[in-house]
Amino acid sequence: MLAIIGGSGLTQLSNLEVTRREVIRTPYGEPSGALTFGRIGCQDVVFLARHGYGHTIPPHRVNYRANIWALAQDAKADGIISVASVGGIRPDLSPGTVIAPDQILDYTWGRHATYHEGGDRQVVHIDFTEPYDGALRRRLLEAAATAGEAAVDGAVYATTQGPRLETIAEINRLERDGADVVGMTGMPEASLARELEIPYAAICVVANWAAGRGDSAHRIAFDAIEKTLQLSLARVRRTLEHLCAEPR
Ligand code: HPA
Repeated sequence: MLAIIGGSGLTQLSNLEVTRREVIRTPYGEPSGALTFGRIGCQDVVFLARHGYGHTIPPHRVNYRANIWALAQDAKADGIISVASVGGIRPDLSPGTVIAPDQILDYTWGRHATYHEGGDRQVVHIDFTEPYDGALRRRLLEAAATAGEAAVDGAVYATTQGPRLETIAEINRLERDGADVVGMTGMPEASLARELEIPYAAICVVANWAAGRGDSAHRIAFDAIEKTLQLSLARVRRTLEHLCAEPR
């Protein structure tokens, strides 16, 4: 069972043959919505819309613990692909680019970021040297290649708190820190998946230039984002179709 978490612009997977939907409660509360089970090609898939099916849950209010728990423990997924939109910081990562990031910077705060809250349980420090699963990343990139869709291999994903976008000075700081793209949902999703030892990889679509970059020199042009996202997410869907078609 492969899990796909859809982000902004991807509240459903048009290529998913849906078999059932299931509302799940976890020890950490409710996930963002019902889990949608189905198949893409011959692969069993479970889909979850990160921001809810009506796109009503902002990044800092997503119940990341419940989402990952439901996919890992209830749906028994053995891999999670995150689809997310980001702002481009690195000059070659212009709107429309599709990326499989390989590193993370975490600027979020106040989110429930672990299943190990102490109490009577042992303190746990997961290894997070490589935050994304190498094998799953490679499969994603190979699927993009066979689908004929260009995808950039590797980028540093900075996770900001949101829901507001960043200032120019904040993007300048992220760039000095080594960030290539910026999004709001990468953490703690990735580290929670690692805590549950479930391989996790991300495929990101650059929706806009980050603040102060490219045509976002003075403001973010929201009107262009929707079109860019739809075109690029169609490419992500094709990549996911190939991923599901390939034997593991
Ligand atoms: N900043 C943060 N998150 C984002 C952006 C951005 O510019 N674009 C899409 N998600």
